Amino acid sequence: MKALGINTLAAFVLALFLGACNKSPSFASPNLSSVPASFSAIKTGILDAKCVFCHSTTKPKGGVSLSSYDEVMSSPGAVTPFQPHQSQLFWQCYKGYMPEMGPPLSTLELQTLYDWIAYGAPNN
Ligand code: HEC
Repeated sequence: MKALGINTLAAFVLALFLGACNKSPSFASPNLSSVPASFSAIKTGILDAKCVFCHSTTKPKGGVSLSSYDEVMSSPGAVTPFQPHQSQLFWQCYKGYMPEMGPPLSTLELQTLYDWIAYGAPNN
């Protein structure tokens, strides 16, 4: 538990640092060692909490449903594995367009999305 806490803190500090340095359109390099790039974490922490209100099977705004792994992967343009910059799931949030009418995602949340896609967008 203690090691996990330190890793999480390190990831957070790194994400803050990378965020502060990031004035250009390119985002941080993937940080796959210390940020858990897991779809289940993204689903619980980001998609279910901040996106499915507008992006579900019954209400797929913009043609995008984000309520399950299969729906995320079959929404056109949402995720191109290994290519975060070509994935609207990351890009729309990075540019601050999504979540619509909500506060922008944190740097750590953006990094997690980026890392998961850069890792190949596995169903993990
Ligand atoms: C309040 C409603 C609302 C919320 C919450 C919301 N969206 Fe959207 N989203 C929309 C609408 C409306 C569109 C269509 C916009 C358009 O076509 O111009 C859209 C479009 C999109 C698209 C497709 C954009 C494209 O051009 O391909 C993606 C990807 C997306 N949203 C991701 C997200 C993610 C990720 C979240 C959560 C972090 C989120 N959205 C939260 C309303 C919302």
